[in-house]
Amino acid sequence: MRTFLGNYLQFFRQFRQRYETTGAIAPSSQSLARSMTRFLAARDRNIPVRVIEIGPGTGAVTNQIVRLLEPQDQFHLVELNEEFVRILEERFQSDPVWAKVRDQVQMHTLPVQEYPGEPGDFVISGLPLNNFSVSLVTQILDTYMKLLKPGAVLSYFEYMYIRSVRKRTARGDERERMIGIDELMARLCSQYRIQRDSIWPNLPPAWVQHLRVPAASEPE
Ligand SMILES: C[S@@+](CC[C@H](N)C(=O)[O-])C[C@H]1O[C@@H](n2cnc3c(N)ncnc32)[C@H](O)[C@@H]1O
Repeated sequence: MRTFLGNYLQFFRQFRQRYETTGAIAPSSQSLARSMTRFLAARDRNIPVRVIEIGPGTGAVTNQIVRLLEPQDQFHLVELNEEFVRILEERFQSDPVWAKVRDQVQMHTLPVQEYPGEPGDFVISGLPLNNFSVSLVTQILDTYMKLLKPGAVLSYFEYMYIRSVRKRTARGDERERMIGIDELMARLCSQYRIQRDSIWPNLPPAWVQHLRVPAASEPE
């Protein structure tokens, strides 16, 4: 309970200090975290995987991921906010469930667009793309594609209807920005989406988008 409340407070503090990159007032709910990890949960557990979580924050989704790891799996976290990294590292020491997988974990404190890591089988991202410029979103989506092995799954969430509302209500540059991001996301989803979950028990309600890139033997 202390961790839960502490995480809420820490998250809210970061929201106030670093609104653009934090992008939410509260950590994701358990329902959202379960949806984000549903493909990881459903995989063949005999085959070792590399999982990359982008923007773990205080670890709401991480907390599901650590429960789904097998001893041969590798888990990489990419987070630019040093305060969140500190909270996560502390939890890998103190929480018995997290500590069990500590040796399989690597933390990378940098923006994902600068992450030079190897591609993974599951990329799970909590980035608030709607807060970024069109050119940054383009860069981040290119990075996602580079981080996906053939046949890998990308799962990310976005708050429901935010872009369609902002496209109608915003003016000038902000409206152009929303239209630009919407086009990028629509193109990505039309190419690769395999499922969308609607998560109402979350603040605010969110869609979780699941995308899968073709396996080496499949046509694009
Ligand atoms: C909306 S919060 C999601 C936090 C957590 N995954 C959750 O669901 O509660 C966004 C997170 O992405 C991180 N972030 C934002 N831009 C980033 C970037 N370019 N690279 C890595 N992390 C980033 C923020 O610091 C924050 O932790």
